[in-house]
Amino acid sequence: MSLPARPRRQPDDLRSHRWFGKDDLRSFGHRSRAKQAGFSADDIAGKPVIAILNTWSDANPCHTHFRLRAEDVKRGVWQAGGFPMEIPLLTLGETFMKPSTMLYRNLLAMDAEEALRAYPADGVVLLGGCDKTVPALLMGATSANLPAIFVPAGPMLRGNWRGQILGSGTDVWKYWAERRAGALDECAWREMEDGIARSFGTCMTMGTASTMAATVDALGLMLPGASSIPAADSMHARMASAAGRRIVEMVWEDLRPRDIMTTAAFENAVTAAMAIGGSTNAIIHLVAMAGRAGAALDIDRFDALSRRTPFIANIRPSGQYLMEDLYYAGGLRGVLQRLRDLLHLDCVTVTGRTLGEEIDGAPVNNDEVIAPRERPLGPEGGVAVLRGNLAPDGAVIKHTAAERRLLRHAGPAVVFRNYNDLEARIDDPSLPATADSVLVLQDAGPLGAPGMPEWGMLPIPKKLLAEGVRDMVRISDARMSGTAYGACVLHVAPESFVGGPLAFVRDGDIIELDVPDRRLTLRVSDEELSRRRASWTPREVAYPRGYGHLYARHVTQANRGCDFDFLEGTAPIADPEIH
Ligand code: FES
Repeated sequence: MSLPARPRRQPDDLRSHRWFGKDDLRSFGHRSRAKQAGFSADDIAGKPVIAILNTWSDANPCHTHFRLRAEDVKRGVWQAGGFPMEIPLLTLGETFMKPSTMLYRNLLAMDAEEALRAYPADGVVLLGGCDKTVPALLMGATSANLPAIFVPAGPMLRGNWRGQILGSGTDVWKYWAERRAGALDECAWREMEDGIARSFGTCMTMGTASTMAATVDALGLMLPGASSIPAADSMHARMASAAGRRIVEMVWEDLRPRDIMTTAAFENAVTAAMAIGGSTNAIIHLVAMAGRAGAALDIDRFDALSRRTPFIANIRPSGQYLMEDLYYAGGLRGVLQRLRDLLHLDCVTVTGRTLGEEIDGAPVNNDEVIAPRERPLGPEGGVAVLRGNLAPDGAVIKHTAAERRLLRHAGPAVVFRNYNDLEARIDDPSLPATADSVLVLQDAGPLGAPGMPEWGMLPIPKKLLAEGVRDMVRISDARMSGTAYGACVLHVAPESFVGGPLAFVRDGDIIELDVPDRRLTLRVSDEELSRRRASWTPREVAYPRGYGHLYARHVTQANRGCDFDFLEGTAPIADPEIH
């Protein structure tokens, strides 16, 4: 929706004016300390202060280039007449952080929001990319509601092994199954380790990082098309400095996140996620982001939008290619151009122009990678929202990444009480599992695990792998990596830890999955479920103190986005007093 014209802000209107522009004791202190850092009065006076929230860290290899990119952003900020102020934040290094970065997403969101409130920022450039860093930074910036622009880390280069293209995560799962089946030796496995992550940048499959970057692009919060630029491409540095120039103008125009993050813009983001076969994690994050923006978005809307959106981006794990190929094929602008009739084209973006204007004329250079509408890869989007007596508040499945024959399936449950139980028994030759069994994992949700780790792609039992089985129905209250695949029902809500029906499933119960009808049914009578509930004893929360204690008291369930209840909403918080 185009915004009504606003008067251009003046230097005295800037938030930072309260820190630097006054003739009082505190302003003296602020100016003299800026001079301590080597800046002169001319560097600061009357200029918008642009915070650069940087999630660079040695603990996050996907963000290795962010020191350089912060300098690129600063160059743009200086060119446009702003004053850059880089502020390092907690990083969420997906691969190293345990038990799950999801446990800490809300902590980074708080870090971002409070840094923006406490420091003299007029606008902000957000440097993130690795999975949860994207929603976390945006949740914080949305709550702070200062002019903001996102600079995504960009995908890494394609992996390579003996001339074969390797995709992050996706090919690890695939070849690990072969290794467990005895079809791949240690030497080959080590060579893959050398070749799968060839540069800085995020996972280059359509995992959570690529999905979230694309949805934020479609939402209008980054320079249009920025989400597809490979991290190692020189265009990426030029995009970062352009973002630095643009944010200064956004401050003068007073263009804020909540002006952009409307319900219609979120629908564009969901439509994009469905068309690219995006990660199921996007559901949780977009619901949480919408909650911060005051926009209406619930999980059923995902299902409705998924049903009408064709799947057109041929990227692993649901497709064949990788993010580098998507960039050469036309990137997200090319994808969106092919979805024009399904988008709200009048939504405003960070450029101040509408989404429609920004994708006008965007070329598609390769129909194999971005399929034409008349020949989509699938008639509908990648995600289905399921309901039934096993998931009264919903569950999700990425059905485009599952074997077709399993999308309507009924079979006996094989239940694992938690991940340790699964690890101990999954390869036991006496496990009572057949190819028709439904594997169930309990205690893997937001509170149960805790942190809702990406355990939802339960491994196929070794004895079934040896028989050639490569997919089975699996059900949990966990999440799944966006790079993963299989008939995995995820995000079951309420979770088993809080007494959701998943807690009462027993070995041999028949579970029915019906994706076309969006049903997930436990064929056990209500009376029997009530009996099982009556004899169930809830487990204690594991944290007697600390951040985990706060998390356990306030995290919401998956269908509400796993935000903290006290962080939701748009209630205004006053700027700090300066005395
Ligand atoms: Fe960082 Fe995948 S591990 S994006």
